[in-house]
Amino acid sequence: MATQTVATKKRRAWTTTVFVKQLMAVSGLVFVFFLLFHSYGNLKMFLGQEAYDHYAEWLKHDALYPIFPHGGFIWVFRAAMMLMLVIHVAAAAITWKRSRRARRTPYRVKKNAADAYAARTMRVTAVLLLGLIIFHILHFTTGTIRTGFTADSTPYERMVAAFQNPFMVIVYLVFVAAACLHVAHGFWSAFQSLGWVRSGTRKFMVVVSGLIGVLIFAMFALPPLAIAVGFIR
Ligand code: HEM
Repeated sequence: MATQTVATKKRRAWTTTVFVKQLMAVSGLVFVFFLLFHSYGNLKMFLGQEAYDHYAEWLKHDALYPIFPHGGFIWVFRAAMMLMLVIHVAAAAITWKRSRRARRTPYRVKKNAADAYAARTMRVTAVLLLGLIIFHILHFTTGTIRTGFTADSTPYERMVAAFQNPFMVIVYLVFVAAACLHVAHGFWSAFQSLGWVRSGTRKFMVVVSGLIGVLIFAMFALPPLAIAVGFIR
């Protein structure tokens, strides 16, 4: 009876850890899709002011109309992103706490150096990312922090004014680099947590994750760099 209780407890604890990791994986994958979509959308800067402002206007006021009322989709999207963020951060905190506890128990197998390095990188990039996301929203979304633009500037004008300042280009490249390092490891980790990595596909998945990180970095970095060198004005 006692043995059965211990076995049940162990199984439940194991299931919970897997579930928490799966929650982190699914919420993380939602962010990867968001970043692909967001960085692709930013490339519309290359199509000129009218195209970019029209796209920004569509996203804010007309996306998925008439399924949602005008301006409704953006709020559904924001609520969904907030929910994903809360799930992702809470799951990360639970996993981190558990791994710290496990590290204190001597019989557990030690993580190899690469895993430990990746885990540390994930924590550093996560903290950087959270800070930069808050800055980013205050900068472009609410316009609380203004860098060379006014409250009346259109989305295109805001972008151009912001990245004519080399300091802003550096801040955003650090932001995007942190996001992409996080994505490159997170993407791979997510597939592992979901049980989709087999020994035969391991290397392939590592390469795909790295390539997704590089792709998102390039798509985000292009508009600020093009503005900084005067190609977009
Ligand atoms: C060079 C890189 C980036 C540029 C130029 C950029 C630009 C923008 C712009 C122009 C907006 C729209 C503001 C508005 O008109 O309301 C925006 C919104 C947003 N961006 Fe970025 N972004 C970049 C990278 C990122 C990254 C890496 C993340 C996440 C890790 C991110 C997350 C967001 C979020 C959450 C919003 C708010 C959407 C909303 O609620 O309206 N961005 N970004």
